[in-house]
Amino acid sequence: MALKLALLATLLVSATVAFPELRNPVKMTPIAKKMLEAYPIPEVPKDYDRSQSRSIGTMFRTRVDHFNPQNRDTFEFQYYSNDEYYQPGGPIFIFVGGNWPVEQYYIEHGHFHDIAYYENAWLFANEHRYYGSSLPVEDLSTPNLRFLTVEQALVDLGELIYHIRHNVVRDDNARVILLGVGYAGAIATWMRQRYPHLVDGSWVSSGQVDARFDFGQHAVEVGGLIRDHGNDECYSQIWRAFRTAEALLDAGRTETVSELFNTCSPIDEENMLDVETFFFSIKEAIQTEVLSEQNVVYTDRLCQTLNNSTESTDLQTLANWVHDHFYFLDCMPFDFESSTEIHSIVDVDAIENRILGLRQRYYQFCTEFGWFLTADSADQPFGYRITMYLFSNFCKAVYGEWLTAEVVADGVHLTNMHFGGKDPRIANVLFTNGGLDPVRDISITDADLNSISGYNSPELLAAKKQIHDYIVSWLYEPVVPIEEN
Ligand SMILES: *[C@@H]1O[C@H](CO)[C@@H](O)[C@H](O)[C@H]1NC(C)=O
Ligand SMILES: *[C@@H]1O[C@H](CO)[C@@H](O)[C@H](O)[C@H]1NC(C)=O
Repeated sequence: MALKLALLATLLVSATVAFPELRNPVKMTPIAKKMLEAYPIPEVPKDYDRSQSRSIGTMFRTRVDHFNPQNRDTFEFQYYSNDEYYQPGGPIFIFVGGNWPVEQYYIEHGHFHDIAYYENAWLFANEHRYYGSSLPVEDLSTPNLRFLTVEQALVDLGELIYHIRHNVVRDDNARVILLGVGYAGAIATWMRQRYPHLVDGSWVSSGQVDARFDFGQHAVEVGGLIRDHGNDECYSQIWRAFRTAEALLDAGRTETVSELFNTCSPIDEENMLDVETFFFSIKEAIQTEVLSEQNVVYTDRLCQTLNNSTESTDLQTLANWVHDHFYFLDCMPFDFESSTEIHSIVDVDAIENRILGLRQRYYQFCTEFGWFLTADSADQPFGYRITMYLFSNFCKAVYGEWLTAEVVADGVHLTNMHFGGKDPRIANVLFTNGGLDPVRDISITDADLNSISGYNSPELLAAKKQIHDYIVSWLYEPVVPIEEN
């Protein structure tokens, strides 16, 4: 095992997502890379130069545990500030931190930043606890992850807003507008729900506000993208390849499949966790390509490659494509142990944790959100061997035996009960969807976060104007305090 990990660590790949702190293209293990891109995270252009950033980074100190007065421990989290457009009396705009290191790009560029210019806003971006350099603990052992809950993160942000109003902007009545993407969209939504006195309105892009145990619908959406931006035959080729591999494994012909895909260890058809991880890995590779860089050309290229193949079977065709996709690997580490091992690193400085947030992110999925990308639907091309069995065992293997399927399901249920799931009953929150977002409607294919440009469709221009109009309406809505008797 150690040998295989060393191999994984040295066979590196440059990411399509840019992260702070690293000037060179980010190096990360391929397994980590593929896990990341399934969920909406803010994309930053590769040529964005952080050394030229005009934002100022500061630390904010707060309590490690907001819900236990007996615990007096404190820690610091990071935030950035950009006051270039601020005029006294102007509002506060915050780009909400999610399960990634703090990102200052969107307080210097993009539509939110442009609206700040028109409205004289002071821009901020915060880092979510446990991600990047905002760590309340020394290592990420399972007991140390106990302060990683969205409720704690909401209080962090609430206290930061109070601090910013009172001590930074020095205007206790300054209006506060949040922008949250993906998981941070849930935070922006729930901040408005829990702390309406601290947040006047939230723009939520590709928000994931509904916790879900089994997120099989995601595979259906990815299948739809393959049909829409590739073609029906491409979808069918993938469908047939998955079915063929399943049939071969069922018939005990594991060697054939292992050889075709050049797996690092032979697939053991008795070990369903390895079998499921194998199919999950192939699905993830295809999904990564389809969602790559928010650009439909990658789906087209995938489908052309499959169509151009001269192999006699779809399975061989797909295997060839997988080899090309992971050209930097000597063999395919598509087994359960490889995938759990990379999430079991407790060192906070390991790239998997500090840059990718893998262990933290999956802890949140296993305890509060679910969102597991199964293939539990007939209406998708990735076979039927990617189930909750895999993810339940993944949670247990990575965080401990206590984290059973019941615990996961309970966490998901409680999250929706506490926040309302798809029905959060809140005012002044605008939900939009950006880009190739398998979680939502995909009619707008340009990211809605970017600045208005000459290339925007009339539809997108209208959407962007609407976002601006909504934010302005929240800024000028009168506040009616409770009157004293
Ligand atoms: C597929 O073949 C066509 C025609 O030969 C060629 O133009 C295209 O570049 C090929 N596409 C890929 C992705 O190999
Ligand atoms: C697939 O390839 C064939 C033969 O190369 C070509 O005629 C056909 O147009 C291609 N189909 C698509 C959808 O690209």
